[in-house]
Amino acid sequence: MKRWLWVVLPVVLTAANVQEGQKLFKAYCWGCHHQTAEAFGPSFRSIANKRNRGEIMAQIADPDGTYKQLGYRRNSMPAFSDLNATQLEALADYIQSFKDQ
Ligand code: HEC
Repeated sequence: MKRWLWVVLPVVLTAANVQEGQKLFKAYCWGCHHQTAEAFGPSFRSIANKRNRGEIMAQIADPDGTYKQLGYRRNSMPAFSDLNATQLEALADYIQSFKDQ
């Protein structure tokens, strides 16, 4: 493969992921989370500033298994166990795109 592809490809993939994540966010998360303002759940900006990708993906797929570790006394979020790994990654990338620089 041409050498420049190795440089360009990851950037293109990340951009596609974030776009896919935004679509999923609007479909599944918008009722409880907003991008930068607190809603029923914390804003994606505040999540991005304190959690890594793995923590975010685990919380989406199995909040009953993670809420204690994240410091909550009980879980009020539904599990999105139907989402596949690619969708979880896309959501995690989208959330992390709100991280303060
Ligand atoms: C019914 C409301 C609801 C929906 C829908 C929902 N969440 Fe949540 N979410 C919450 C609440 C409330 C919390 C805070 C923890 C708690 O009280 O259970 C939370 C916590 C989180 C956290 C961890 C917060 C932290 O402290 O790091 C992440 C990550 C998260 N949600 C992502 C998502 C994503 C992504 C979606 C869509 C796929 C989603 N949530 C859909 C209510 C919701």
